[in-house]
Amino acid sequence: MNLSNRRILLIDDTPSIHDDYRKILTPPQDLNPDLVLLEAKLFGAEATVEATLFELCSAYSGQQGLHHVQQGIADQRPFALAFVDMRMPQGWDGVETIEHLWREDPRLQVVICTAYTDYSWDDLLTRLDSRDRLLILKKPFDNVEVLQLACALTSKWEMTERADLKMQDLETRVEQRTFEFKRASQALQVETDERKQLEGQLVQSEKLASLGQLAAGIAHEINNPIGFISSNLCTLDKYFCKLQEVLEAYKAVESEIVSPLIVQELRALKERLDLTFIQEEIPLMIQESRDGVERAAQIVKDLKEFSRIDSSPLWQRASLQRGIDSTLNIVANEVKYKADVIKDFQLLPDIECLPAHLNQVIMNLVVNAAQAIGPERGTITLRNGVLGESVWLEVSDTGAGIAPDILQRIFDPFFTTKPVGEGSGLGLSLSYGIIQNHRGQISVQSTLGSGTTFRIELPIHQSHQS
Ligand SMILES: Nc1ncnc2c1ncn2[C@@H]1O[C@H](COP(=O)(O)OP(=O)(O)OP(=O)(O)O)[C@@H](O)[C@H]1O
Ligand SMILES: [Mg+2]
Repeated sequence: MNLSNRRILLIDDTPSIHDDYRKILTPPQDLNPDLVLLEAKLFGAEATVEATLFELCSAYSGQQGLHHVQQGIADQRPFALAFVDMRMPQGWDGVETIEHLWREDPRLQVVICTAYTDYSWDDLLTRLDSRDRLLILKKPFDNVEVLQLACALTSKWEMTERADLKMQDLETRVEQRTFEFKRASQALQVETDERKQLEGQLVQSEKLASLGQLAAGIAHEINNPIGFISSNLCTLDKYFCKLQEVLEAYKAVESEIVSPLIVQELRALKERLDLTFIQEEIPLMIQESRDGVERAAQIVKDLKEFSRIDSSPLWQRASLQRGIDSTLNIVANEVKYKADVIKDFQLLPDIECLPAHLNQVIMNLVVNAAQAIGPERGTITLRNGVLGESVWLEVSDTGAGIAPDILQRIFDPFFTTKPVGEGSGLGLSLSYGIIQNHRGQISVQSTLGSGTTFRIELPIHQSHQS
């Protein structure tokens, strides 16, 4: 880029001065060999006549000078230097003129020409407040002095301009680098977040896998004793019925006993042993034990389901919608006293799945939603839809919500906030396992005090399922 600027503005109210400057600064080339020589001497061997040529513009008042400066800027041909006469009786004096010029173009180099001490040097500097662009030329001046000032100050303008451009260039580059750096750090942040999420998922699935093995082992171990306890209780019940028969038969013949002593002894024995109570209590105890064993068996079944040890399920194309409807029917009793169920359903394509497993997930979510709703009636909303190659289902409730510090743990096996006997804490971990097995996703969003939304996404096709 050519930054050379040899435009000089002369502001002086005396016309003859303009001729003097013109002779010095724009000499006809062949007429001024002396000046060429002089310049060569002053500025080195390379100096040529051409190099000293200036474009001189004349103004005879401050206002006129300002007009030229404005025009120069508008034409993108600013002046590099202005010679300004100090004393101009008509209009602005030199100092005022310079103030105006700099307001218009702060880059302009200025030489103030004076024969008088209208201002002290200090006053002048205080008023113009710019020592680095201002020089004083005392009249009467020397030609060489003028030429030297013109050369030096136009070069200075050019160098300042070059430095400014460099600075701008540097600033742009710094901005660009900062921008790139920011972008890189944002990308890094995204990557870190993704990694954290993946790590979380990995931890979750590892936890589930090892707990699955543990659960499978426990389920297997407990299943046998549960089996014989259950069958023994059944037999015990039958045997006790037989004993009852015998006791009843004895009772029937009791009145036939003639010895009052024996009758008394028997009555005392019965009272001591509290036979009537025992007879009533034993069947109840057996029934309670059978209920207990049944519950234990159910938990073992859940554990087995959780670890999928004995599942040989069939993958099939099925309607998730049908699953949702039938599950809602099954849990209707549990839900109807607590909440209104709103269904916002779209038409879904059939998906490749294990329908019974998915039903279990839906049931868990709906029952959890109902359980989260307090004594006041709430709402459970079910929405579904298709997203690309997946279908999704959301179960929202207006229940208690989940505190942020336990949100991380709700998918953990056996994590429950429900009273003992009410929740085993397996519902969500089971659901998580089932959704993972379907290569889907389950997520949760909750606001404490206002409600929770669980969302599952399931691929329509299971390409690599074994
Ligand atoms: N919709 C919900 N609103 C509020 N809390 C919930 C909701 N769903 C689950 N939770 C919380 O997550 C915990 C774990 O849920 P999960 O279904 O695994 O077990 P549970 O419901 O406690 O017991 P289970 O399902 O085995 O009967 C719950 O105890 C409850 O604190
Ligand atoms: Mg549950």
